[in-house]
Amino acid sequence: MDSLIMEGGVPLKGTVRVSGAKNATLPILFASILFDDTVEFENVPDLRDIHTTAKLLEMLGFIVNFENGRMQVSPKSEISPEAPYDLVKTMRASVLCLGPLLARLGEASVAMPGGCAIGARPVDLHLSALEKMGAEFTLDGGYVKGRCQKLKGAHIQFDFPTVGGTENIMMAASIAEGETILDNAAREPEIVDLANFLNSCGAKITGAGQPTITIQGVSRLKCTSPYKIMPDRIEAGTYLIAAAMTDGEIRVEDCPYKDMEALCSKLDAAGVELITDGNAMIAKRKANILSAVDIVTRPHPGFPTDMQAQMMTMLSVCTGSSVIEETIFENRFMHVPELVRMGADIRLSGHSAMVRGVPILTGAPVMASDLRAGAALVLAGLCAGGNTTVERIYHLDRGYEGMETKLQTLGARIKRIKGSQVE
Ligand code: EPZ
Repeated sequence: MDSLIMEGGVPLKGTVRVSGAKNATLPILFASILFDDTVEFENVPDLRDIHTTAKLLEMLGFIVNFENGRMQVSPKSEISPEAPYDLVKTMRASVLCLGPLLARLGEASVAMPGGCAIGARPVDLHLSALEKMGAEFTLDGGYVKGRCQKLKGAHIQFDFPTVGGTENIMMAASIAEGETILDNAAREPEIVDLANFLNSCGAKITGAGQPTITIQGVSRLKCTSPYKIMPDRIEAGTYLIAAAMTDGEIRVEDCPYKDMEALCSKLDAAGVELITDGNAMIAKRKANILSAVDIVTRPHPGFPTDMQAQMMTMLSVCTGSSVIEETIFENRFMHVPELVRMGADIRLSGHSAMVRGVPILTGAPVMASDLRAGAALVLAGLCAGGNTTVERIYHLDRGYEGMETKLQTLGARIKRIKGSQVE
């Protein structure tokens, strides 16, 4: 397993370009299942999760070509309804093939996604919504097996604005019979990107990004030109924080700052100066210290849970005390023990973390437990005194394209150590 080794204390300066959004690319790739001919994408990030999805699509019966950010997905003659466990277990987002397979084939057999490091993450809301559209499910040997004649539009009310659930239903409903109304839908920008892609291929989706989405089913979708994936707001936010933590100045190109208001207002309150310049955002400290702020994670447009770990790292070296409440996942504080080993003063109580700022962290060997925890530990290592080694960075490779290369261009003293064992 590879590691990243870094020497802290270098103010990061320069320009970095944000890659395509992982969490927009994944549902959009699974939407390819709805098509009976080739679909094409641009600005696709080169990430582990993208390669996992490509492998899964190939096992379902698609030909996938991926080169220099461009991807083509073409169906072979036979499409299989089965998403096998050994791929699904590595990526929860595989559940996003459920809706498209049922809509396209009338059947689907998807291994139950294993709970991952940040929580149980059931799919009950996905299943109950698809049942309303006419699907029937059985659980058999760890697989969710679904069947339906032809999915029919329905009026669905989500108990919780589930991102994946909203995406699964939007995709299934786009070629179902009749109208589907989705209430309490997730409003994340990646939902809007998925709707924009599907509408560019002839779907009839209105309200994406709002609490109620309406989808009129159509008989066929056709991709007439390559669709460009939106930039990754979480990667962008991670580099804005890197500028603030290292007391540097970073110009983040392709920064979707209009989708980042909750994060940017908290960074501003903590003493980070954010200047927009076209589609770029420049981040640096307003003064020589950063101040504590309280955070509560919420569904979009609230503060994103995917930025909680990175923000906690910054707050651990701010002046003052902060309270961070994680309301989306029941176990998303796995980075805390590792930050404490680096000298952070953080106490957990249920879903809340009390962070008392310290002047500086101390470099140490630490281990990534999940994607965003890994990013948080790299940020910590970049501003800590001495050297830090972050192990198990395959977690990082899931969601950050060329992170060490981008950081090196910003002046970071960081390098990848190839692991001896096979991952
Ligand atoms: C998406 O996960 C993202 N992943 C996550 O990003 C992100 O943290 C999350 O949305 C919230 O914003 C992708 O887009 C690929 P949810 P998803 O369904 O769809 C519970 C990252 O770091 N829930 O909104 O799985 C669930 O247990 C990843 O890039 C149910 O109870 O999120 C969780 O506690 C991590 N039943 C909460 O809702 C359901 O049927 C949020 O889940 C579905 C969800």
